[in-house]
Amino acid sequence: LENGLGRTPQMGWNSWNHFGCNIDEKMIKETADALESTGLAKLGYQYVNLDDCWAESSRDSQGNLAAKSSTFPSGIKALADYVHAKGLKLGIYSDAGFYTCSKQMPGSLGHEDQDAKTFASWEVDYLKYDNCYNDGSSPQDRYNPMSKALLNSGRTIFFSLCEWGQADPATWARGVGNSWRTTGDIQDKWDSMTARADENNKWAGYAGPGGWNDPDMLEVGNGGMTTDEYRSHFSIWALAKAPLLIGCDVRAMSDETKEILSNDEVIAVNQDTLGVQGKKVKGDGSAEVWAGPLKGGGVAVVLWNRGSSQTSITANWSDIGLDPSAVVDVRDVWAHSTIWSVGGSITATVDTHACKMYVLTPK
Ligand code: GLA
Repeated sequence: LENGLGRTPQMGWNSWNHFGCNIDEKMIKETADALESTGLAKLGYQYVNLDDCWAESSRDSQGNLAAKSSTFPSGIKALADYVHAKGLKLGIYSDAGFYTCSKQMPGSLGHEDQDAKTFASWEVDYLKYDNCYNDGSSPQDRYNPMSKALLNSGRTIFFSLCEWGQADPATWARGVGNSWRTTGDIQDKWDSMTARADENNKWAGYAGPGGWNDPDMLEVGNGGMTTDEYRSHFSIWALAKAPLLIGCDVRAMSDETKEILSNDEVIAVNQDTLGVQGKKVKGDGSAEVWAGPLKGGGVAVVLWNRGSSQTSITANWSDIGLDPSAVVDVRDVWAHSTIWSVGGSITATVDTHACKMYVLTPK
């Protein structure tokens, strides 16, 4: 969507993956505080996004959505003010149907203009728009009206489509939103994460500045995967130009979780301004090579061992879009070291479910 936003994939935090419906204004404020104190905000994680369950179960007497008084007694405008005072942005959630997916609050179908104006009046910066309990009409007919309503709301609002009902939102959503889900919901498990990565990979050609494929939010730090698996998760999401929306409790991160989410070299691949989604170029389900071009002629490469034992993985220049005669500097972005200059190919031994991630820069 050409609203000036999403020139690189959005970065921030969302409440759903860790907290589900158990959200309130105190923990959202503490999360904003933690994004600041941990240094994550400075690294680019700027959106603090409420997911489902922030509103009362019915509209107020004027037909407006209203913050749930038991959990958000100060209201959403006050929360936006708090988040903005830290230089961060506030995101909110609704649905292109009669209810949101929890069924605990109304959706915005038929109330698009009114709700967009409400969000703008609260100085909200981002809307995630889900797909549950809709009327069976086409997603285009339900997502376009909200896109237009946001553009007419008087505030510039990032529009994140959460449209998982149809297999190919990538083919129509570029003019409608700044990102669109390409998959069902992620779970905090290796099999779910790898499946989301593969489904999202099919739509690589549709991503670019202004609109990104979204394989769902990060599970890093939620406890269901090993550190190597979380590093793989973060590496592939970064390479695939996926939104980097943290889904753990940032108030209580382990050092390992913080180290993964704070890797500025991996983040730099995600935020590279060329904006081309890296994709799987070799292998299927075991020893894989994923790669994508970077601004200035460099290439980002992930050697990903999805098999169950340690293995050697090779990326040939012909696999990853480099001239066969090119000699490159190899930067290992997890070890934070420039290891050697090579020509032709790069090979590494990779532990099970782990990856190596490199940035190759032609000399
Ligand atoms: C859907 C979405 C999730 C989350 C929940 C909230 O399942 O895909 O990301 O927003 O709804 O109920």
